[in-house]
Amino acid sequence: MSDPGRGRRLLIRDLAQLATPTGADAPVRGPALGAVDVVDEAYVLCEDGRIASFGPMRALDSALGKSDDELVELDGRTLSAIPGLVDCHTHACFAGDRVDEFELRAAGASYEELHAAGGGILSTVRATRSAGEAALANAVRRHRGWMRRAGTTTFEAKSGYGLDRETELASLRAIREAGGIATWLGAHAVPPEFADADEYLDFALAEVLPEAARLADAADVFLEEGAFDVEQARRYLTACREAGLELRLHGDQFTEQGAIPLAIELGARSVDHLEATGDEGIRRLAESDVVGVLLPASALFLDRPMPPARALVEAGAAVAIATDFNPGSSFCESLPLVSSLAVTQLRLTPAQALSACTVNAASVLGVADEVGRIASGYRADIVLLDAPDWRYFAYHLGGDLVAAVIEGGEVAWSRSEERSEPERRR
Ligand code: NIG
Ligand code: FE
Repeated sequence: MSDPGRGRRLLIRDLAQLATPTGADAPVRGPALGAVDVVDEAYVLCEDGRIASFGPMRALDSALGKSDDELVELDGRTLSAIPGLVDCHTHACFAGDRVDEFELRAAGASYEELHAAGGGILSTVRATRSAGEAALANAVRRHRGWMRRAGTTTFEAKSGYGLDRETELASLRAIREAGGIATWLGAHAVPPEFADADEYLDFALAEVLPEAARLADAADVFLEEGAFDVEQARRYLTACREAGLELRLHGDQFTEQGAIPLAIELGARSVDHLEATGDEGIRRLAESDVVGVLLPASALFLDRPMPPARALVEAGAAVAIATDFNPGSSFCESLPLVSSLAVTQLRLTPAQALSACTVNAASVLGVADEVGRIASGYRADIVLLDAPDWRYFAYHLGGDLVAAVIEGGEVAWSRSEERSEPERRR
């Protein structure tokens, strides 16, 4: 990752509270998942795009110690600070929308019926294929701006709405250009020009994988009835692993098809969704190194059962939470809103929700030594909340609570017109 803030010093002072996941391990599970350090009346000092120090205001004088050259101060009164949020599962590269289907679902059509009738994912594939690379790059940048205003400073995004060589590779490039970590979702759906999933995979693995492996960090597959079965998923993921990609799976969204055993067998980084996971899957995931990524906005948006988060956490699984931002099953880019759902629907504590969308999400993306904590040496990515208590990030349901977003020690976004906007002193 680059250090855009090189050479600058930024001091955020007089924060009402600062909260960060405890320790240095990643991913965290068990009691560590809910362990958050909270500092009242706090400061954070950023230097060269990194966190130099943080602590109580009374310790600030000794922390400053050097010349004040290039010191910019933000007044944090009434603000609380948490680490920049990490969205480890989005489909932010798409054109068009599915607002018509949204209305049809309200009238009773199911997500699977729309998909089987050639709508759903395939309707976004048509729009994305005809958009062109420049429009796709604009779309990802626009979506990235929405995420940033909600406090996301690191995001992953998947391809998967191209499903041809040109559009899949253009999608991966657009994601990288917008600063995202790219995942090749080459096995999202079977496009209509192929007779079946096997024939499509022959093409994707021969024609797209070699270049996708240079652009993406990981590969992902939709393992589900009507998409790819377990043998097809194994074939796809094995080839992707041999090409050097990390592995992710969309699994147990509607039905259990063996995603958790396959993820463990292949050493995947994560298995995502888990709304349909039963007791055996919970036990196996908890005993493994695979992170379970929970997507409660998707369950809410499709009016599905929530994933068994409490049981997973109590069994000792490492869990992350993410938006699943996409036009069909979760048109939601806000990790604070997802954190509200994590507390109210998944029954995580605010501290567990914070770890799940910072350090554990960073672990899924392989960047947990850089981001996900406010700790000395980490990238200076910080969210300033318009709140006297850090737990407002989950408590303020759908609230406009992000006052400013710091990325690499620079103010990347601030709600300037609002009363509580941080005041620049120099
Ligand atoms: O994670 N389930 C598969 N893929 C996405 C939805 C994509 C879409 O509906 O466009 C998901 O929910
Ligand atoms: Fe998804």
